[in-house]
Amino acid sequence: MSLLNTPFDPAREAALVTGAGNGIGRAIAQALVGEGLRTVFADVDRERVAAAVAASPRPELAVPWVGDLSTREACDALLADAQAAVGQVTHFVHSASPPRRETDHAFAVSRETWQQMHAVNIDAGFHLARELARKLIAAREPGSFLLLTSLHAGTPRNLPHYSTAKAAMAMLVRELAKTFGRFGIRVNALVPGAIAAGGFVADPSLAKHIPLGRLGRSEDLAPMALAVLSNRVSAYVTGAAIVVDGGLSLTNWFDPPELDDL
Ligand SMILES: NC(=O)c1ccc[n+]([C@@H]2O[C@H](COP(=O)([O-])OP(=O)(O)OC[C@H]3O[C@@H](n4cnc5c(N)ncnc54)[C@H](O)[C@@H]3O)[C@@H](O)[C@H]2O)c1
Repeated sequence: MSLLNTPFDPAREAALVTGAGNGIGRAIAQALVGEGLRTVFADVDRERVAAAVAASPRPELAVPWVGDLSTREACDALLADAQAAVGQVTHFVHSASPPRRETDHAFAVSRETWQQMHAVNIDAGFHLARELARKLIAAREPGSFLLLTSLHAGTPRNLPHYSTAKAAMAMLVRELAKTFGRFGIRVNALVPGAIAAGGFVADPSLAKHIPLGRLGRSEDLAPMALAVLSNRVSAYVTGAAIVVDGGLSLTNWFDPPELDDL
């Protein structure tokens, strides 16, 4: 039996992906369905969720769910609906995040925009992860959680509501990994670089800062997400921040060497 051919156990495992209507969350949710896992596609945008489900490799395994995860009530409804639809959720991906607008700099960002960014990223991420872990611990089942953070957890983005939310998520991953580890529940961060998905309006000229020479695509994230989520592939990986950025984070004030004479 090949390890990489059977990363999941669809008889025992099921997934919940937030932000599954678009971009990276959508690509990961579709890839999980492709691996045969029953997967809840959760998002605030009804049409996007319907389209993501319809375009899945196996739509019959995909469960659409629509709600605004900035509220506790919606998070609790999602937990109950997910359990009813797919049973015990063993794999959780938190990719939902409100739009980033370049105009929301430090002097412009409104209180509401600040709160919404933190509510969806950290408050929902914490509540959903903790409640899913409670259920897994009670059932003595292992689990694997993946939170989408950002290079801007550690370097400014000119969007303080966004970078502070991602920095908090990065520490949340480490806190939960340490607390949940003894129960066989792994928690990791996936750190995308410049991914031309919905949440990031990509300027193609950015590619010159990326050692691999191009912007990323959502599909660049999905295979690594599956590898980290899989208890078979990544059984001994927790509290890690897995960077998928084409080398963008290597860029600094030194350009790479000129190699004309090669
Ligand atoms: N695209 C990038 O370059 C990049 C880089 C670093 C980190 N990330 C992170 O990866 C994740 C996905 O990014 P993306 O570019 O694919 O984003 P995206 O904007 O394409 O998708 C985010 C999804 O979250 C949903 N959403 C927003 N608010 C919600 C709410 N209140 N309740 C439920 N769903 C809600 C949106 O409808 C959307 O479908 C985000 O957490 C983002 O911060 C992305």
